[in-house]
Amino acid sequence: MCGIVGYVGSRRVVPVVLEGLKRLEYRGYDSAGIVYLQDGVLEKHRSEGKLQNLENILGDAIGAPSHIGLGHTRWATHGAPTTENAHPHSDCSGELVVVHNGIIENYHSLRGELQEKGHRFASETDTEVLAHLIEEYLDGDLREAVTKALARVEGSYALGVLWTGMPDTLIAARNHSPLVLGVHDEEGTFMASDVPPLLPYTDKVIFLDDQELAVLRADSQSIYSLKSGKEVEKEVKTIAWNSAMAEKGGYKHFMLKEIFEQPQAIIDTVSGRINPETGSVDLPEMNLSDQDLAGIERIFLVACGTSWHAALVTKYWIERWAGIPVEVDIASEFRYRKLLINDRVLTVAISQSGETADTLAGIRLAKELGSRIVTICNVVGSTMTREAHGTIYTHAGPEIGVASTKAFTSQLAALFLFTLFLAEKRGTMPPEKRLQLGRELIALAGVIEEELPVLQAEIRELIENYYDSRDFLFVGRGLNFPIALEGALKLKEISYIHAEGYASGELKHGPIALIDKEMPILALTPRDAVYQKSISNVEEIKARQGRLILIGTRGDGHLKTITDDVIYLPAVHEELNPILYTIPAQLLAYEIASRRGCDVDQPRNLAKSVTVE
Ligand code: AGP
Repeated sequence: MCGIVGYVGSRRVVPVVLEGLKRLEYRGYDSAGIVYLQDGVLEKHRSEGKLQNLENILGDAIGAPSHIGLGHTRWATHGAPTTENAHPHSDCSGELVVVHNGIIENYHSLRGELQEKGHRFASETDTEVLAHLIEEYLDGDLREAVTKALARVEGSYALGVLWTGMPDTLIAARNHSPLVLGVHDEEGTFMASDVPPLLPYTDKVIFLDDQELAVLRADSQSIYSLKSGKEVEKEVKTIAWNSAMAEKGGYKHFMLKEIFEQPQAIIDTVSGRINPETGSVDLPEMNLSDQDLAGIERIFLVACGTSWHAALVTKYWIERWAGIPVEVDIASEFRYRKLLINDRVLTVAISQSGETADTLAGIRLAKELGSRIVTICNVVGSTMTREAHGTIYTHAGPEIGVASTKAFTSQLAALFLFTLFLAEKRGTMPPEKRLQLGRELIALAGVIEEELPVLQAEIRELIENYYDSRDFLFVGRGLNFPIALEGALKLKEISYIHAEGYASGELKHGPIALIDKEMPILALTPRDAVYQKSISNVEEIKARQGRLILIGTRGDGHLKTITDDVIYLPAVHEELNPILYTIPAQLLAYEIASRRGCDVDQPRNLAKSVTVE
């Protein structure tokens, strides 16, 4: 997915934009470019591959005495990742440039129309159409020209525009692709696809909504509705993330930093939301009244990837403790099945980024069908949080590594709170039970904090026998089945080892055919309600010489009679095992990928947030 950074202000623009693009590298890209205005001329530099290539061709231009410009990292969707296709793209005159995230779905017809009018195209991209379309409507007023051009466009865009005719102005516009403004009295005005590029300069941000356009100058920002053309008032939010939080903090990779940030992320997500004396849960931003709640007969949980695994765990929790039927859907499937949804259904979208296209489309559909929408999200002001009726924010801080870690365990913490909230409102859990579980959730962060360094050392040693495996199986039962799926996803997405997660009981229905003395199998076997069944499954694997790694409860000596490779975890309330048992699975994936020399934070082919379908 692409990244945009724009700036107009007192600083020299090239270093600001370049540093900002570096902070967006996690989004995944395969070419980059920058443009700035100097002495009335637009200086454009573009390159294939990583930002270092762009820096190399910039040379002395890094110090250019310009104070307005745009930058872009492109993840190819239309047209190969070449320099010609890299953004920014220009109109025929070369006096207007655009950078763009998203997909212009009707670019073919627009391109044909513009070519008939004599416009000459230099790239294969859909984005270049925007430059020529704006040029077509340009008659002295850039805002008017961009507004008219976007009225012709179908599809998604986060857009930055710069024109020599208005040398002190940037135009920003968004529709179904995130764009955030940074504002600061002295520093000037920033625009970016996400928050990290803004953090070194300001914590004051404005999130653009769909169909909004902003006119940006060093000392002012005016925002307009593209539909009505009228100026709109927008709230300036304060981001509680400092710049350091978005840096690696001394860790080798963002992912490792974020694994170790999980105790704090859980504490920050839970604190202030649960009364440690009564266990009563307070989630005001969810905007769900007792009356709304009383009308709910079913809950749909909708998500993708790791967030979908959080949904699978939550089904167990809600059905057991709140007594409400729960359906779980992968968002990309949810949209294409016959949905029996009405106003007695609550749809909960789970998303770290709040921008995942499939999940976003799912909640829009559910909303149309009458469902109330709540989102569990980690990014303040992201699209999902503004389209849902209510939100439960995870407070994990910026998650830069493509593989989700702290956002996942924070989602589980938030969803456990949600379960306690539902149980309290429906009177399905005795207050003393709620108090006990609430206290155990709060205490869990300390348990994880204590275990992390020990686990990392054990697992770093353990993987020497496994890092060169070709395949891996993860198995778990009940609440830990989704964690087996999550462990497999973590390993495959950062180490490129083929890994599969299965319900332990499912092995004998096919996967056991894979077991031989080469095949590593990680089994989650805590002392819980399904322990004996899990051990029986593990014995089946052992009987076929499978290479077993067991993760179980400290003190369970029986596990050592099955295999030497046992990772022990402290006993916690079994309802909270999914959060605790995720940690070794994350560390296993991280240590193996790191040992294999993989690009842990930016795995090949992946983006941090999939904002295209
Ligand atoms: C998880 O490690 C992956 N990066 C991916 O599966 C991710 O969970 C999925 O794309 C959903 O993203 P979201 O939570 O931002 O919606």
